[in-house]
Amino acid sequence: MNIVNLNSNSAGSDSYRSFTAATKFNCSLESIQQIKQAFFVINKEGRVEVQSTTAVNGSVSETAIQGMLLPCPLESLGEESFCQDHGLDYAYVGGSMAKGISSVAMVKAFGRAGMLGFFGSAGLSLEQVEDAIDQLKADGDQFPFGVNLIHSPNEPELEKALIDLYIRKQVHLVEASAFMALSLPIVKYRTHGIHRDAAGQIVTPNKVIAKISREEVAARFMAPPTDKFLQQLVASGDLTAEQAELAKQIPMAQDITVEADSGGHTDNRPALSLFPTINAQKETCQQQYDYQQKLRVGLGGGIATPESAVAALSMGAAYLVTGTVNQACVESGTCDTVRQMLAETRQADITMAPSGDMFEMGVKVQVVKRGTMFSIRAGKLYELYRACDSVEDIPADERDKLEKTFFKAPLATIWEQTRSYFATRDPRQVEKAEADPKYKLALVFRWYLGQSPVWANQGDVSRKIDYQIWCGPAMGAFNEWVQGTCLDALPQRQVVAVAYNILFGAAVLMRANQIKQQGGIIDSPALVKPLEIEQIKELLS
Ligand SMILES: Cc1cc2nc3c(=O)[nH]c(=O)nc-3n(C[C@H](O)[C@H](O)[C@H](O)COP(=O)(O)O)c2cc1C
Repeated sequence: MNIVNLNSNSAGSDSYRSFTAATKFNCSLESIQQIKQAFFVINKEGRVEVQSTTAVNGSVSETAIQGMLLPCPLESLGEESFCQDHGLDYAYVGGSMAKGISSVAMVKAFGRAGMLGFFGSAGLSLEQVEDAIDQLKADGDQFPFGVNLIHSPNEPELEKALIDLYIRKQVHLVEASAFMALSLPIVKYRTHGIHRDAAGQIVTPNKVIAKISREEVAARFMAPPTDKFLQQLVASGDLTAEQAELAKQIPMAQDITVEADSGGHTDNRPALSLFPTINAQKETCQQQYDYQQKLRVGLGGGIATPESAVAALSMGAAYLVTGTVNQACVESGTCDTVRQMLAETRQADITMAPSGDMFEMGVKVQVVKRGTMFSIRAGKLYELYRACDSVEDIPADERDKLEKTFFKAPLATIWEQTRSYFATRDPRQVEKAEADPKYKLALVFRWYLGQSPVWANQGDVSRKIDYQIWCGPAMGAFNEWVQGTCLDALPQRQVVAVAYNILFGAAVLMRANQIKQQGGIIDSPALVKPLEIEQIKELLS
């Protein structure tokens, strides 16, 4: 079928313009929304219209067919192999959200809908993470899921203990994040149980999806595990020499999530420029290492609407990752007050503030600004940390203000609480702080940064002004999109309903783009407004 004959005259774009000018036609919203149906664009003696392929069957000459609207099932969005490898129906991932904000309920909801959810293990105790894994496995691994492994440079023992837990509990998928370089525990996890199957193919029971926002970190995860760590694992008996040889033929992570400007920890990189760079890096690495299974790159950061999903998929994203929009959903491990605050968040209502886990390094997280003083107070703490060498060094008036407003307790009491917390969790922190007054100051200030998300999650009304709510620009985009629709009301915001609407809207927009390129006009402003899940299912049937 000849849709556009670009060779019909020498000026290609002129020929396209005259083609579309001659074939302008209207297309109904209904035909676009029936995303599984193919339609022909038929020229009936100069009048162009869209007809279902079954309607035109045999009754139209081939030359009258001027174009075609291709089906776009939701399962076709993203890379098929991503879904196959992870047992999914849709290439849609709910990223990890710390302190159980991506809760067991959320991960189950995603998994049962054929999507992938990651449990937010960061900031939780080992016991809490184990309990969550037990709950996720209680139904006998009936749905796909993964758990976060956040790199903890301050707490290497915790990272090691988490990996041992994941191996012991047979968690076969982790989302690795905040890494700057590989660590022994993540290499141990990835290579654990590596073997060849009867057909001679390398099998890796444990999979890693690495979330990155920098090229050098992507390079580390796209490469095989380093020799240094493999040798250490052979020496400790965790790998055989034969397994270490096999490990040299696999990437550390077959899937790399490019994380653009997002909620929580973020480098604020724009998706439109970061993704193509990492995607090109993937091609180079695939050529260099010639892996048995090809590397894939997904995209997260800012995905909250059909438009953003189409942009990601059109750039070649193998899968979509969301975070911020899921926190505003009923399944998230936060409280209703925070959900309401998120529902009111617009594009300009977010800001960067010092992070709790990498406070001393000046690392920042993206948070809600409207309705909370957290970003200002955390900024003040960082300023004082830079200026003072110890708790005692804080000017008296400043210290008084901190104790009355930020901490609501003497700093000596806060240190006592901090010391007893670390005494069981990681006693070396206490030793270090007692030997280094500046480090003690950091730990005292980190108490506020560590408590503020807990107050938010638990809905502590006395601390509303201090809520630390991680949130990206996706929230404003989402709120604008769903205004006045079935997803506007908080109880209707369920992760699967949101996901279906983003995917479905993306499929509709992709079809609309096909029509547009062929000279068609779709005149419904409600093209991709959210629908009830039942309506979507009906349109998909
Ligand atoms: C509330 C919140 C907490 C997050 N916590 C984590 C975390 O603990 N580990 C992690 O890898 N990513 C974390 N993220 C990032 C998400 O997994 C996801 O990559 C990101 O939110 C996607 O971008 P978006 O916020 O624009 O949707 C968090 C994001 C939010 C909004």
